[in-house]
Amino acid sequence: MLGSLILLWLCISLLAFLVRTRRPKNFPPGPGPIPIFGNLLQLNLENPMPDLERLSVRYGKVFSLYFGGRPAVILNGMSVMKEALIGKAVDFAGRPNGLLLNHLTQGKGVIMADYGPSWREHRRFALMTLRNFGLGKQSMEERILGEISYVCAHLEASAGKSIDPQTLFHNASCDIICSIMFGSRYEYDHDFFQAMIKMMAENSKIANGPWGMVYDTMPLLRNLPLPFQRALRDYHTVKLHVLGIIAEHRATRVPREPRDLIDSYLDEMEKRGENCAPFDDGQMIIMLLDLLFAGTDTTSNTIRTAVLYFMTHTDVQERCQQEIDEVLEGKAQVSFEDRHKMPYMQAVIHEVQRVASTLPLSVFHCTTKDTELMGYQIPRGTLIIPNLTSVLYEEDQWKFPYDFNPSNFLNDQGQFEKPEAFMPFSVGPRTCLGEGLARMELFLILVTLLRRFQFIWPEDGGEPDFSPVFGVTQAPKPYRMTVQLRGGLTN
Ligand code: HEM
Repeated sequence: MLGSLILLWLCISLLAFLVRTRRPKNFPPGPGPIPIFGNLLQLNLENPMPDLERLSVRYGKVFSLYFGGRPAVILNGMSVMKEALIGKAVDFAGRPNGLLLNHLTQGKGVIMADYGPSWREHRRFALMTLRNFGLGKQSMEERILGEISYVCAHLEASAGKSIDPQTLFHNASCDIICSIMFGSRYEYDHDFFQAMIKMMAENSKIANGPWGMVYDTMPLLRNLPLPFQRALRDYHTVKLHVLGIIAEHRATRVPREPRDLIDSYLDEMEKRGENCAPFDDGQMIIMLLDLLFAGTDTTSNTIRTAVLYFMTHTDVQERCQQEIDEVLEGKAQVSFEDRHKMPYMQAVIHEVQRVASTLPLSVFHCTTKDTELMGYQIPRGTLIIPNLTSVLYEEDQWKFPYDFNPSNFLNDQGQFEKPEAFMPFSVGPRTCLGEGLARMELFLILVTLLRRFQFIWPEDGGEPDFSPVFGVTQAPKPYRMTVQLRGGLTN
């Protein structure tokens, strides 16, 4: 009797579950989900990009998948991306909740903050402060060029040797953000700097890996002592350290003379007076960590991709150097303005960003209301995954979609031209907040490095492998490089 009751209960539960995971009416099509896992077992979680491409061919540019019991809509191709993220901007501008990243950030700051007043005001504040290149006495350009001098010193010291450049470029990108936020850079071997970099690397590994997926899809397991607990703990430790830096700033600042982003935030809180909501210390810490996370891997992985292509496409490297030498002749340092005189270099940087597709699935969005896309009904709160790679490699949009070829960004007269499908920073109201900074960093860093060094694929380098390592932030496979100093230069 008891056995039959249990069996009946199991059947009812399973039926209820199956009903729950059935697609809503007129929802985008996709493969059938199975209980508990949804479609997860049909994807190669190490790198789902080929599966997503295959599913898009089968089900169309807008299709759906289940992550556990949670439906998600995948957007593919430029026209869909534009219709959703620009044409129906507000409908698609939310961020999903209930994920590991939400619990790390408590929905505060910018990246994971849901569409609403707090996100809007923090985004506006961060954009304005980053745009205000005269933060304190040092301009943004000077901060970046200052950091490059450390990179150059490290590279000079290892000239002729074969090295893995990953840590160096990572440290430099992170230090540029630290200088903007905290007013000072760290020595690359500084304890806190190293701890912060390690925490970022480990947390993105956990959030990207199977434990992140378990956390996101199986809430019942969240309190168990599994690796995601470490992510929450480490994030908290770095938060405490940043709190200390904020306290130091409070003690030493001169009101309305901001040295950095923290001083500007404190000024803003003061300006708003007693009730300065939504600006408070809790929001400030998460916003700072957001910028650190968002601005480190992205920039450094793009630089690593660029160097990989310089070494393996020596004609491209030489042509860049020729243009750089001509334009900068007699000048001690490059400036961001010089980009207008360097169409080829500009084309190469954009082509690097296109093939790198650094955030292949952007940051996940969420619908803020019941909406419609390409004739499908999508309810409020649905997870939205913009497949940016599908646009950056879209056959109809590029002269050479599958090759590394700077001509993708040059017109018949050799002038730089940016096709509409260039959207590595995404589009719409949630588009990358650091785009201006990232573009400046990429240009100044790559031009300075190419001017000073020759990048050579070393003898112990094996065969170049261009296939990326998938992640929220996609990276090139680790590789080794050799640099030689170029002769007769002023900087
Ligand atoms: C090559 C470098 C970079 C690439 C390719 C990149 C790309 C992206 C992408 C695709 C998104 C998601 C947009 C969306 O949800 O639709 C994003 C968001 C964001 N990025 Fe970047 N990013 C880069 C560098 C940076 C830097 C240097 C910073 C900051 C200093 C930054 C800060 C942010 C922030 C705060 C967001 C969240 C914006 C929001 O939710 O409103 N990014 N980025």
